[in-house]
Amino acid sequence: MVETTVTYSWLVGFVCFVLAMILLQLYRIVDSRGYNLPPGSRGWPLIGESLGFMRAINSGSQPRRFIQDRELRYGEIFRSNLFGRSRMIVSVDPEFNKHILQNEGRLFQSNYPRPFRNLIGKFALLSVHGDLQKKLHGTAVNFLGFEKLRVHFMDDIQNLMQTTFAQWQAKRDIHLHEECHQLVLNLMAKQLLDLSPSKDTEEICEAFGHFSEALLAVPIKIPGTKYARGFKAREFLIKKIYESIEDRRQHPEAVHNDLLTKLLKEDSFSEEIIADFILFLLFAGHETSSRSMSFAIKFLTDCPRALEELKAEHDALLKRKGNLKNQKLNWDDYQSLKFTQCVIHETLRVGNFGPGVFRETKEDIKTKGGFVIPRGWTVYVFLTGTHLDEKYHSSALKFDPWRWQPHLQDQELLKNPSFMPFGGGARLCPGMHLAKMELALFLHNFVTKFRWEALQDDKISYFPVSHLTKGFPIRLHPQEQMDD
Ligand code: HEM
Repeated sequence: MVETTVTYSWLVGFVCFVLAMILLQLYRIVDSRGYNLPPGSRGWPLIGESLGFMRAINSGSQPRRFIQDRELRYGEIFRSNLFGRSRMIVSVDPEFNKHILQNEGRLFQSNYPRPFRNLIGKFALLSVHGDLQKKLHGTAVNFLGFEKLRVHFMDDIQNLMQTTFAQWQAKRDIHLHEECHQLVLNLMAKQLLDLSPSKDTEEICEAFGHFSEALLAVPIKIPGTKYARGFKAREFLIKKIYESIEDRRQHPEAVHNDLLTKLLKEDSFSEEIIADFILFLLFAGHETSSRSMSFAIKFLTDCPRALEELKAEHDALLKRKGNLKNQKLNWDDYQSLKFTQCVIHETLRVGNFGPGVFRETKEDIKTKGGFVIPRGWTVYVFLTGTHLDEKYHSSALKFDPWRWQPHLQDQELLKNPSFMPFGGGARLCPGMHLAKMELALFLHNFVTKFRWEALQDDKISYFPVSHLTKGFPIRLHPQEQMDD
């Protein structure tokens, strides 16, 4: 009797398995709808090829391994199944990537995973399309334009760095990434909401910690999960922004030189749009820049020759300015820092803070070799894959700022599709000039004020986004004091 039941269970199991396989095959046929899809593999049901992709970019030593394997088999544009998306094409073809980014809104449109969009909000810049995207993007570009940077940001950044660095000096041992996080958040909170460093900004920074964690967590919204904690953090942050809106409404006479006040005065957007817009700027403005600061210091620590040359550039600049303590740089000083710009570009290339961007095809798209990406499919433009590609950047995993010396004209760099750390086209990062300026001023203040030593061996990981696995703990030693 027992034997018959066991045999029967096996039979049912076997039949189910065969049926599942047939259904899977049918699904695959229907799924490709007769298209000549780019070659590739869908990997395992549900998880697709995500594990292999994650393992490779998390490895530190061979982040391109997953891509390299597929590139050899299928070419630079291939089918895959990542981030829970089975209708996905990955591209590490620089020309095709440029074409994708430049055709935003026409052939392609931004299409980040829903759990990510739910968190950043339906009016965050990366969630919106069409006229609203153009209007909000224009507002961001305006707010972060050269004149604003020169007049408003430059002084504020340097004041903030000077007070913050005095606190770091007193602490002596710091986790560099954590400290840079708070530093850049303070800067953005001042420019966007006119908030000075305080308990408030510390709480905001902490909430952003949960928010960012949730963006990269498994999207299960039940109490106790990281994703659910992220939504709580979002509620808290949006509440803070609404409090500031209420404050501006209650006290119209108070002078605030921030973006929020400007947007409320212009009255072009609803409060809901303004709140999501500001939240996203706060997030995009501090996550990326703060990481680039700690990465730059880590790369310089591991490359003493680059550090020496960088320091020589900044010491020479200080000498030209009379070696006065705490003297601030002006716009021309900033522009004159040529080797610093090389260090910045190389940090952005090796660090890759936005590993890739998501697009959806708005119509069937033909690619090289006569393949077709059907309408409604996701294309993952994997920027890291190109930035670390030996074909375009020799010794690609090596931090080599000198490689940029012949290409210092920004316009030239913007045309190079194998280096697009800020994306391109209609969604080209509006904060790119601010990010570079923050990094230059940070490097200036850091290398002229401190010598430092790493307290632990740290390494870079590119998953879920690039980070230093231990947050780079360092011990600071003040440089000799300059003349007053
Ligand atoms: C190292 C620093 C930074 C990097 C590497 C970076 C990278 C990027 C990339 C790759 C995109 C394009 C996304 C896409 O096309 O889907 C983007 C968009 C964006 N970035 Fe940045 N970013 C940085 C700093 C900043 C800063 C400082 C701000 C603001 C203060 C900012 C605000 C934005 C916004 C608002 C968008 C969305 C633009 C749109 O969709 O119209 N970013 N960024």
